[in-house]
Amino acid sequence: MINPLYVQTLFNHLFSNVDGYHIAGRAQGATPGSREALLYGEIPFKTWQKIVTRAKPKSDAVFFDLGSGTGRVVFQSHLLFDFKKSIGVELLDGLHNKASELEKDFQKAIQPQISHLLGERKLEFIHGNILHTDLHEADFILLPHPFKKEEDFLLLEEKFLRELKPKTKIVTLIRDLRNPAFKYLGFETYEFSWGKSSAYFYEI
Ligand SMILES: C[S@@+](CC[C@H](N)C(=O)[O-])C[C@H]1O[C@@H](n2cnc3c(N)ncnc32)[C@H](O)[C@@H]1O
Repeated sequence: MINPLYVQTLFNHLFSNVDGYHIAGRAQGATPGSREALLYGEIPFKTWQKIVTRAKPKSDAVFFDLGSGTGRVVFQSHLLFDFKKSIGVELLDGLHNKASELEKDFQKAIQPQISHLLGERKLEFIHGNILHTDLHEADFILLPHPFKKEEDFLLLEEKFLRELKPKTKIVTLIRDLRNPAFKYLGFETYEFSWGKSSAYFYEI
């Protein structure tokens, strides 16, 4: 594991000029209907650290952030944990483009300095809808937003049960999973950019 204080310094540097709310507002403005349908918010560095500690995914997990915004949680996970792969999936062009731009900056300016610490870890940003993203390789999943349409939630729950391997860990924010086939591991309350909310923990 790379020293968490060092990781936080690198992370703060990478995101120092990134205003996710502004980018999300513009991206939503460019996609009709998305302002009503999609929610934007951010998970503070310390909160994500606490959630992963509570979730206890396998140390070399393939991790998916299903709604990755500018990529904050994906970059943090890539740097802070020994995950084999950290993958972000984001629907909105503007947010996905910012994450890709930051990935280029990261590969150019930061990765070469710490490649000996990162080893074989991989980072990936997918531009697409989480309902159409292949999740078979996942070991650990974050669903960081509640769908506004209940039917989308039910579709995603079915997809999880169809595609995910036994022992895959899932964390959802704000809304819990309803299907009793998920093994419920409790909930905790944490600080987010929008205030206090619950994180719900599950295993397949
Ligand atoms: C609460 S934000 C979380 C951003 C990021 N995980 C973070 O903490 O910085 C949720 C994100 O999910 C995206 N989103 C919502 N529905 C989606 C879908 N069906 N497919 C892909 N992304 C989606 C939104 O555009 C938004 O950027």
